[in-house]
Amino acid sequence: MSRAAPQPKENMGNPEPRIDGRLKVTGEARYPSDFAVANPAYAFLITSAISKGRIASIDLGDSIAVPGVLDIFTHETIGKLNEVPFAPGGGGSISSMQEMGPDIHFDGQIIGMVVADTYEAAREAAYRAKIAYTEGKPSGTFDAAGLTEEEPSKVEERAKKLPQAGGADAAIAAAPVSIDVRYGTPTHHHNPIELFTTTCVWRDGELTVYEPSQFVYGLKNTLAQKLGIDPEKVHVVSPFVGGAFGSKAQFSPRTGFVAAAARKLNRPVKLVVTRDQGFSVQTYRAETRHRIRIGAENDGKITGFSHEGWEITSRPDPYSVAGVEDSARLYSFGAVKTRVTLVHADRNTPGFMRSPPVVPYIYALESAMDELAVKLNMDPIELRRRNDGMVDATGKQWSSRSLMKCYDEAAKAFGWDKRNAQPGSMRDGEWLVGWGCASAVYPTHVGASSARVRLNANGHAHVQIAAHEIGVGINTIVAQVAAERLGIPVSAVTVETGDSSLPPSPVAGGSNQSASCCSVVVKACDAILDKLSHASGTTGSGDNSRAPDLSAAFERLHVGAIEEYAEFIPPGGKPDALAQLYKGRPTLGGGSHGEKLMYALGAEFVEVRVHARTREIRVARIVGAFAAGRILNPRTARSQYMGAMIWGISSALHEATEIDRRNARYTNDNIAEYLIPVNADIRDLDVIFVPEKDDFVNPVGVKGIGELGNVGTAAAVANAVYHATGVRVRDLPIRLEKLM
Ligand code: MOS
Repeated sequence: MSRAAPQPKENMGNPEPRIDGRLKVTGEARYPSDFAVANPAYAFLITSAISKGRIASIDLGDSIAVPGVLDIFTHETIGKLNEVPFAPGGGGSISSMQEMGPDIHFDGQIIGMVVADTYEAAREAAYRAKIAYTEGKPSGTFDAAGLTEEEPSKVEERAKKLPQAGGADAAIAAAPVSIDVRYGTPTHHHNPIELFTTTCVWRDGELTVYEPSQFVYGLKNTLAQKLGIDPEKVHVVSPFVGGAFGSKAQFSPRTGFVAAAARKLNRPVKLVVTRDQGFSVQTYRAETRHRIRIGAENDGKITGFSHEGWEITSRPDPYSVAGVEDSARLYSFGAVKTRVTLVHADRNTPGFMRSPPVVPYIYALESAMDELAVKLNMDPIELRRRNDGMVDATGKQWSSRSLMKCYDEAAKAFGWDKRNAQPGSMRDGEWLVGWGCASAVYPTHVGASSARVRLNANGHAHVQIAAHEIGVGINTIVAQVAAERLGIPVSAVTVETGDSSLPPSPVAGGSNQSASCCSVVVKACDAILDKLSHASGTTGSGDNSRAPDLSAAFERLHVGAIEEYAEFIPPGGKPDALAQLYKGRPTLGGGSHGEKLMYALGAEFVEVRVHARTREIRVARIVGAFAAGRILNPRTARSQYMGAMIWGISSALHEATEIDRRNARYTNDNIAEYLIPVNADIRDLDVIFVPEKDDFVNPVGVKGIGELGNVGTAAAVANAVYHATGVRVRDLPIRLEKLM
């Protein structure tokens, strides 16, 4: 694999190295729990050992006896904290289950917190707590008894908002070729390398919170609500986030407990949630089931498509990803019928996890497309080509669509024309070779944002924006865009992010960050250029010869620096979007919800090798070609795609949270037994950029890429495994026992 920076193609920026790369690799980058606070006390959580029931009694005698213990908080002593709304879109709580008890709703619920002079003392005291329960009989997974499906009226209500067009049932019944297949995906946990941490410091009634966050304004406002204080008294610090993937986008009840404890003890309190506790105190990707029916003409033209999904959620919260919104629009289906049903279980509430709607739903669709191609005896790329089009079944137009270009480029690089379609025909010694492909798709989101840019007479610029460096390179992208706009080198720009005292930007979710942040930074830069050009008598912004003689212009203006605060509301956005953002409520638009369908697209090709006797499965090669509008930085973009494709391989072959069916508890809550790929699992990996220009999506023409690359991978692997073995595995992950 080549390590040289990918050279920019048409409509791409420079492959600048990460401006914070050195800080990160030398350990200088400070993550929230790295901040030194004076005289900290350490917290350790006590979590429930049952999944359903009630705390009968708490005996803390042995815990309090541990030297160094300062206090132990339970539902009896934590005091009154306000209930804050469950808000799956960010800007609220991960769950409506926010109490320490006495009722137990899920495995690993926080039921107590020890605070001590040392971490070790807090941990020992927590382990010594004696909790007695009255235990109920929990139901945690699809095959458990006692689950509650939503009432049909709620399912109908949701279906009205999902894509429906024409008579799909009749079209499928009348079609000469049809399939009716079911798929399943397991629970996944994000497992970011950086654990879930919170440090709270009170001073004169004001609270500083050091916590990794994908939405500092959401955290600030929701925590203030929780504590019943003015949001201006809460300051969130989160300059670097060590991986998030959706798990750090919302308020989590732990933060309220730490803040309350620090207030009561009048001392800074620091909590680092352990790896295993992280499985239950945060969110996860919900387990899903799918039924897909497709009817087609003999030439492959699809006349009817039906996608039904079932998603596990907690008892109280209606968390849903409803990826039929995207699966039903990916091709020009003649007619579509969609439906999503929530299934309530004794579980913590699920939440965003990288590419939330599309990872499970497009896995199902793209597996079904392959099954249909087999049944039609047609090449799977050709099947997609016959159903490619600029209008979906509901009549919506795509803003731009380069899906078949992605297929063509990936197929060429992969050597697809040498494929023998017969399953099991491409044997290499003891290895069965299989080639498969699938589409990747992700909705293009953009949100209201604000930023402040200051340009000094010496040609240095400073950008302030409460964006979130979750590992994606946002600091670098923002610096590049500002530098390009102001006509100065990237090295002359510094960027400040990850702090709620900066101008707000949206939740770093839904791959909107580059589009939203860069749109507003460009606006602020243009305002500076306007002032400069007035001073120098040249015309305003909009051309490329912008860098006027800075020192002359500043001299004429009699100022030391020019600073501009800008606000950006995407076209069609609500006029109060910025006011809402300041209150911690993001409004992301895009995808299928605007005037046009706005999506980034891609095609992924995989070669698997399955050992003929042991059934060991290896991904020998993967090629992904992606089109996502303007690519601001091909180097950081390639890293996003590579990481995503590796994660896609992970969801295909490795990842699953195992749940004990008798007591609805997570059993592999560690990264030794929660399987993810290691270097030896990843062989040849190739990323192809397909140039695309789309001025409709947002002012910078960026579609967002963080969540595109892991969408098609699982289906491509499953399709390749079928091609190698003739065995169609319809539930993830594909492990060797399923091929026996
Ligand atoms: Mo991303 S899962 O939308 O934070």
